[in-house]
Amino acid sequence: MALTNGGAATPAPASGGSNLVLILDYGSQYTHLITRRIRQLSVLSLCISGTAPLSAITALSPKAVILSGGPHSVHLPSAPSFPDGFLSYVQENGVHVLGICYGMQLLVQKLGGVVDVGEKQEYGKMEIEVQKESALYAADEVGGHQTVWMSHGDEAVKLPPGFEVVARSTQGAVAGIEDRKRHFYGLQYHPEVTHSTKGMETLHRFLFDVCGLSADWKMQDVLEEEIKTIHSMVGPNDHVICALSGGVDSTVAATLVHKAIGDRLHCVFVDNGLLRYKERERVMSTFESDLHLPVTCIDASEQFLTALKDKEDPEMKRKIIGREFIAVFDDFARNLEKQLGKRPEFLVQGTLYPDVIESCPPPGSGRTHSHTIKSHHNVGGLPKDMKLKLIEPLKLLFKDEVRKLGSILNVPESFLKRHPFPGPGLAVRVIGDVTKGDALDTLRQADEIFVQAIKDAGLYDEIWQAFAVFPSVASIGVQGDQRTHAYVVALRAITSEDGMTADWYYFDHKFLIAVSNKITNSVKAVNRVVLDITSKPPATVEWE
Ligand code: XMP
Repeated sequence: MALTNGGAATPAPASGGSNLVLILDYGSQYTHLITRRIRQLSVLSLCISGTAPLSAITALSPKAVILSGGPHSVHLPSAPSFPDGFLSYVQENGVHVLGICYGMQLLVQKLGGVVDVGEKQEYGKMEIEVQKESALYAADEVGGHQTVWMSHGDEAVKLPPGFEVVARSTQGAVAGIEDRKRHFYGLQYHPEVTHSTKGMETLHRFLFDVCGLSADWKMQDVLEEEIKTIHSMVGPNDHVICALSGGVDSTVAATLVHKAIGDRLHCVFVDNGLLRYKERERVMSTFESDLHLPVTCIDASEQFLTALKDKEDPEMKRKIIGREFIAVFDDFARNLEKQLGKRPEFLVQGTLYPDVIESCPPPGSGRTHSHTIKSHHNVGGLPKDMKLKLIEPLKLLFKDEVRKLGSILNVPESFLKRHPFPGPGLAVRVIGDVTKGDALDTLRQADEIFVQAIKDAGLYDEIWQAFAVFPSVASIGVQGDQRTHAYVVALRAITSEDGMTADWYYFDHKFLIAVSNKITNSVKAVNRVVLDITSKPPATVEWE
């Protein structure tokens, strides 16, 4: 299946389309996990809004549809549901439908059963008993107990005709149902959550034994399909540009496009004066020596730092950086046009699946059903009149899948595992005016010592992000019998799944003592080191 679809949120129709699982999203916090779990079983799964029109579903021609959980109650008039005609479509086309939690209740209600407020609400780890050999459970599971993750208030109290109960919670609630003849199945619990100890087995059984899907979602095939798609979009004389941030996504996207069209790809890396210690040299060496990417490195540090002089407000700093990026990028495109005698027509972006996924947000969240695309702050936006067509080869991939693809493309492992780094760089790690004194250099030195010590201790891969912050605060100290008035540096290291929430990392005391000593002994302007011990929330990852 082709992964690139030139900018639309819904992917292109599957060719033949039958080996696809489509998730209809009703707003559960676990919806994306279902998509991930199915892909882990080597089956392509895509996720669209649970209220998408029927045409969006039929265009994808899925072999199975999973109705996700969600925070709603089917009794409310505003309860989201699949489109009219969905039930006839799946039955006429032999599509298997599995409802999970809210998805199961929706299925029950729409097929003529009854869902009511449960006598006992079930949240968290619970036990179920498998009552029948069925599509979802093997014969040797019958009579056995399984720990599962429940999260529901409503429950199915009367099943639609043709359904039978195949599992119950030990409290008596319906936990698993099916109508094998019509290919409808339901689980009241979340098989995708690791607390459901046999959840993956149930999903495995559903995908392969019940739906007859094949495990053919492989990164090597994704790569080949992507290259074909790029060839079909980009003509033999067309040129493509790409802004590299030094991060994993833009690097993997550029490497892939380069493999497809060679040196008709033109990359730019901007040194904005806000990079880490030796970042430019390190990143450029990976681009040139390891990846053989054609990259123009533009040193725009003076331009950025002049624009940032005396600016203290974090949002103002971000806006200035975005504006300067656009100006540099515009110049690059103009110069390229002069050299090539024609305008580059395409732009590569490292957009990932979580950025484009459609979702059905919980009521009261203030979000709408329409999909939102995260703004690409890495390059600070693009000049409005450039009219470039987008190539987004990672558009249907999750972060760890991008890493796998990068690995096939021989992007060095050390590069693929780099911690995320914000687009505005050290500007959000120097509090206030970044141009004051030696703030940036001092921060670079302290940050390098901290991150190198983490690497030396073998902790880098356990930590999601680690960095130093320059709070622009001086304090009194005593060094070599001399009273000093020097700067404070803060260290921050966090663990996280996706940067949305985070925990601070618990270092060993000896490690902290060594890092603190090394910083105060070798970074002249620093006489005090503090550790940030705040999770997110209430703090954010970056200080600004
Ligand atoms: P916060 O500070 O919002 O950070 O908790 C969450 C993640 O996003 C990164 N971050 C940014 N990335 N431009 C970026 O490209 C930004 O303006 C920006 N602000 C924060 C941050 O490093 C963390 O990984």
